[in-house]
Amino acid sequence: MPFTAPHASHPITTERMNDHCCVLSFPEYVDAAQRLAAALRLPCRAIDLHRFPDGESCVRVPSTPVEHAILCRSLFSPNDKLIELMLTSATLRDRGTVRITLVAPYLCYMRQDAEFYPGDAISQKIIGAFLAQQVDTLITVDPHLHRVHALEHAIPALRTVTLSATTLFGPCLREHAEPPLLLGPDRESEQWVRTIAQAHDLDFAIAQKDRSGDTSVRVELPSRSFKNRDVVLIDDVISTGRTLAAAAQQAMRAGARSVRALATHGVFVEDAEAFMRNAGIQDVWTSDSIPHHSNRFALAELIAAAID
Ligand code: R5P
Repeated sequence: MPFTAPHASHPITTERMNDHCCVLSFPEYVDAAQRLAAALRLPCRAIDLHRFPDGESCVRVPSTPVEHAILCRSLFSPNDKLIELMLTSATLRDRGTVRITLVAPYLCYMRQDAEFYPGDAISQKIIGAFLAQQVDTLITVDPHLHRVHALEHAIPALRTVTLSATTLFGPCLREHAEPPLLLGPDRESEQWVRTIAQAHDLDFAIAQKDRSGDTSVRVELPSRSFKNRDVVLIDDVISTGRTLAAAAQQAMRAGARSVRALATHGVFVEDAEAFMRNAGIQDVWTSDSIPHHSNRFALAELIAAAID
């Protein structure tokens, strides 16, 4: 059924030639997709989406056939996106696409990696298997892996490439008059904090976190001095902001001069940002894995290098 494209300002390339390889963008992530296409020197074409009044999605792929499609879509607020991914992949394959690479800088459903209560769906495994049916290769950035340490173990059926945004954090760490003290709010963050600290020759500390609910978090600092230090909190994901807020409050209580935060993915659920600011965090910097005004690092070059 015909519909008016809701994103008329979104540039759509119209040449009717066979593309060997191109980046396909989705409306809410078009800027990042265009940056990736520019870094790869490939055309960027638009997937059009329409939401019917009953909530169903209508997907329209470009009419130009493409052999290798690079779908660039970060999977935050993922439920509709997963259905649209399925519709997109099936339509592309019907139209002759032989290879589909999904660039999903934020990878959803990675945190539920175990049956915490009898009957829990192990979402990581199930969504991983679903993705493996849709695409040939998945490229992602700092996926949240806890009990399973590598993405190829979490999603064995899929060819995966895991990148880390921590290599881009350097310039933010140099914005302090004195070398900052890096603080990881929990055990899982140690992998990133240690790497960054070693790369920039900085001190670091790892706190202990106890989460008793979605917004209920307690953080205990290790016994070391925070007095007059500029503290930079490092984490992979900011969701409700409670983890970093709790860590910031403790650091301020322990005498820190300032607290800032660096994270790869800024989901910022509801009041997360205000909550973090009220806890004393002066600046929050994130990558463009999820569009937000805190974005300081573009991932395009990092991802392009992996695709090349
Ligand atoms: C959990 O282990 C993650 O690394 C993050 O610390 C967590 O997801 C952050 O969640 P929130 O912002 O809701 O505290």
